[in-house]
Amino acid sequence: MCGIVGYVGGRPALGIVLDGLRRLEYRGYDSAGVAVIGDGELRTLKKAGKLGNLEKALGETAAGDTEAIRTGATAIGHTRWATHGGPTDRNAHPHLSADGRVAVIHNGIIENFAKLRAEIEACGVEFASDTDTECVAHLLAAAWADLDGEPDPGRRLAAAMRRTASRLEGAFTLLAVSTDAPGAVVGARRNSPLVVGRGAGENYLASDVAAFIEHTRDAVELGQDQVVLITPEAIEITDFRGAEAAGKDFHIDWDASAAEKGGYDYFMLKEIAEQPQAMADTLRGRLGETGEILLDEVRLSDQDLRDVDKVFIVACGTAYHAGLVAKYAIEHWTRVPCEVELASEFRYRDPVLDRSTLVVAISQSGETMDTLMALRHAKEQKARVLAICNTNGSTIPRESDAVLYTHGGPEVAVASTKAFITQLVACYLVGLHLAQVRGIKYADEVAAVVHQLRATPAAVETVLDRMEPVRELARDLAASRTVLFIGRHVGYPVALEGALKLKELAYMHAEGFAAGELKHGPIALIDQGCPVVCIVPSPAGRGVLHDKIVSNIQEVRARGARTIVIAEEGDAAVERYADHLIRVPRTPTLLAPLVTAVPLQVLACEIAAARGHDVDQPRNLAKSVTVE
Ligand code: F6R
Repeated sequence: MCGIVGYVGGRPALGIVLDGLRRLEYRGYDSAGVAVIGDGELRTLKKAGKLGNLEKALGETAAGDTEAIRTGATAIGHTRWATHGGPTDRNAHPHLSADGRVAVIHNGIIENFAKLRAEIEACGVEFASDTDTECVAHLLAAAWADLDGEPDPGRRLAAAMRRTASRLEGAFTLLAVSTDAPGAVVGARRNSPLVVGRGAGENYLASDVAAFIEHTRDAVELGQDQVVLITPEAIEITDFRGAEAAGKDFHIDWDASAAEKGGYDYFMLKEIAEQPQAMADTLRGRLGETGEILLDEVRLSDQDLRDVDKVFIVACGTAYHAGLVAKYAIEHWTRVPCEVELASEFRYRDPVLDRSTLVVAISQSGETMDTLMALRHAKEQKARVLAICNTNGSTIPRESDAVLYTHGGPEVAVASTKAFITQLVACYLVGLHLAQVRGIKYADEVAAVVHQLRATPAAVETVLDRMEPVRELARDLAASRTVLFIGRHVGYPVALEGALKLKELAYMHAEGFAAGELKHGPIALIDQGCPVVCIVPSPAGRGVLHDKIVSNIQEVRARGARTIVIAEEGDAAVERYADHLIRVPRTPTLLAPLVTAVPLQVLACEIAAARGHDVDQPRNLAKSVTVE
């Protein structure tokens, strides 16, 4: 939620910050704003709506103002996903102190904001917005005035930020600039992402490395409760009490082109097309010389994993659906019971956890607050936590006992596609690792499944090559009121995922069901022409499963449904019941979601486009959900 960028250096900062915001707009797009220090003055401009509105307004600003904004070499910028206060010009960030000398941008929620606001108002300050963020600007200005013993303006601003941050409760990333410290940007973080980009004679701050990847691939990860001061020459990190702290340097292994559309109409289409590569990258280097699975960061011993008597998977949205698929594989391969929980519900139902519970937290962003809170709850109960994550250095892997990174590269479209597919790959690897460490599968058995997994990128490539009829079908379905999805076994989570994609992108009523559940109620939804997408398991797997779903297809067809059947090559039994047949290559039963999910992504994307929606930035959503 909310994208944040800061720059200080020798170049005009506005363009750099706007480019960064463009790359972060997936995080929130309710409003956008910038603050630039130029000619010894602080200028801000902010606008409701997408970044384009701000850019248009910048073009229309009075000439003198525009010049100062365009040449200043210190700036911060923000793209917002509204929490406190509606998405209006007035509530857009940056927010200013009463004297107009300090500007602040913020990601997160300040939970004690009502108390702080009352205290500030009692001193006679009038608020210019309905946001929690504005409190920070006023507190910073007051702290600055108090700290006149510090001669260095940048360090004085950092000290003011430490004092202010210590008073805040909740989750926040904050960036601030001040007219009194023109060559500095300060930042603070608690439970919300902030990374530093290290340049030559210039430095950057951002919620995500994508914002500065064009300029530098050297980054510094900040810890919890830290304040950072950047000037053109230096990066100084302290904790909230002022003690010097060290950030963790890392190198970004993808470049700016990975965060561009590369000729596709939407990021989503590009990311769908990147899936075979992302799967192969996630598999690469995972198999050790003796056939063992290699995790990235393991602070768990094999004995810890042998002691596991229960697995919980916690995740949200699409990542939760990946977890539902993982349950089938983990239980089948390890014989250890595995439960899958929505992260937002997990800690509230007081789950039974102890040292021998393994909690697997799945998150593309590594910052989803619901998942983070579930992870922390698990750790408090002494459970071991293993993260599956796509974002290096993010909070969830940092706080976990072990990590398996999905090497999906940046996912910019709000709807998760390659993240989902690579999460599935990682889940399979975790299942195999557990099975092997616990002595249930031998190294050669693990290697055999890895071999099957290695064939799946090519299978996805084949699916992608055959998507033209799906595109045509999508145009045809664009006017439908409801689309239903049914599946059994691992096809059931795929049905849920297909429905989620359609809801979030096309704003249509869509629901996924376990095919066997239809007759217990939902079948009443089916009327003449109602599209039902049926995910059919391999007839080469458990035959009874296949036969049951063929019966379910007949049941819905008998009630007027228009059936869209996803079935593997050579499955002749489904042909006579399919109004539309989408063929996928033969894949082992447990791995089938890797191929069957792909046509559903394309279908949702194309239906949304046909309905004229913004595919990459669907309404009301944000890519990284850092509030509970
Ligand atoms: C849907 C989607 C979301 C995310 C969910 C979890 O397409 O993208 O449902 O899967 O918000 O996000 P992460 O994986 O970042 O924790």
